[in-house]
Amino acid sequence: MQYRRGDLLDVSNLRVVFDTYAGQVKALNGVELWMNHGERLGVVGETGCGKSVTALSVMRLIEEPGRITEGSILFEDKDLATLSENILNTVRGKDIAMIFQEPVAALNPVMKVGAQIVENIECQRKSAVLAQGARKAGPVTDSGLSQKHRTKETGSVEIMRDMLGRVGLDWQRTENLYPHELSGGMAQRVMIAMALSSRPKLLIADEPTSALDVTIQAQILNLLNNLVRETQTAVLLITHAMGVAAQFCDFIAVMYAGNVVEYGSVQSIFKNPLHPYTKGLLRAVPKIGRTDELQSIPGIVPDLISPPSGCRFHPRCPHRRPECDKNQPRFEPVREELEADRHHVACFLYQKDL
Ligand SMILES: Nc1ncnc2c1ncn2[C@@H]1O[C@H](COP(=O)(O)OP(=O)(O)O)[C@@H](O)[C@H]1O
Ligand SMILES: [Mg+2]
Repeated sequence: MQYRRGDLLDVSNLRVVFDTYAGQVKALNGVELWMNHGERLGVVGETGCGKSVTALSVMRLIEEPGRITEGSILFEDKDLATLSENILNTVRGKDIAMIFQEPVAALNPVMKVGAQIVENIECQRKSAVLAQGARKAGPVTDSGLSQKHRTKETGSVEIMRDMLGRVGLDWQRTENLYPHELSGGMAQRVMIAMALSSRPKLLIADEPTSALDVTIQAQILNLLNNLVRETQTAVLLITHAMGVAAQFCDFIAVMYAGNVVEYGSVQSIFKNPLHPYTKGLLRAVPKIGRTDELQSIPGIVPDLISPPSGCRFHPRCPHRRPECDKNQPRFEPVREELEADRHHVACFLYQKDL
């Protein structure tokens, strides 16, 4: 078995393609990222660089015409890339939960909010029972959760009401509403309540605030921040905004055209950005309150049906060298940096043997 880099999640050489009529989209080109229990990792990069496909791969939700062609997704002691669908169902939604950009779209439109959360809790409980049959279930760490939560006999309705309260909603008013009666901010609170009700070890949040008003964005991020700190839930936060990742996360993975081109602690990425793409992104860090996509790096994200050869960033790179269009640069640790920063980069400018 390969050297393990993160005790919660370790994604290595992950490749995903989509076979479309227009040709094969080479969406992920060897993604590398990892995290320990309780850490927050921000995945940043322009639209189309593979952030959502990475998140969906970890949930093993890539569907036809997409498929994982190579790589591993180690989650604790399991490789999610090859796990059977049965065992996967005991992980998905339970150990790993996900929230999306469009919360209303993720809710069932004909079911009241309270009933949906209850159904979700019961579903997770059933799969937990199944999981115990399939594998030895480890102890559940639930530090920070209310006493109610820890009691096995607690009814799903009580947990639902408790969770609605925790996300700042009045359960009496909210549980009987239908999704279309919720504002965007309320709907995202409901999604967070639902996702955290199963006490996941990892919460994947894919642009959770991008569709919300600026003031609501800050509220939701603060709420999420408080809840996950309290429960020590690890978070993989996907965002196109470097500033949001810096505020919320411990580590950052910068993605470009299907690769993590740089990875490291927030401090190492901000103080000593190495990859020309990261430097470009940092020059474009939005001011607080700006919600548009980052666009100040010249050129556009390449077409992934026929991506550039070698380093996929080379056509846009101001520091391009002759070797850059020939081979893919290796993703390697950065010399002379603190181990705790985990600083890695995939760029010929820093490759050790050149
Ligand atoms: N179902 C699909 N079919 C074909 N291509 C897809 C599909 N889903 C994603 N892609 C492609 O994969 C690449 C990465 O997309 P995505 O992960 O959604 O980007 P991001 O979330 O960073 O904006 C894009 O080129 C996108 O067009
Ligand atoms: Mg996306």
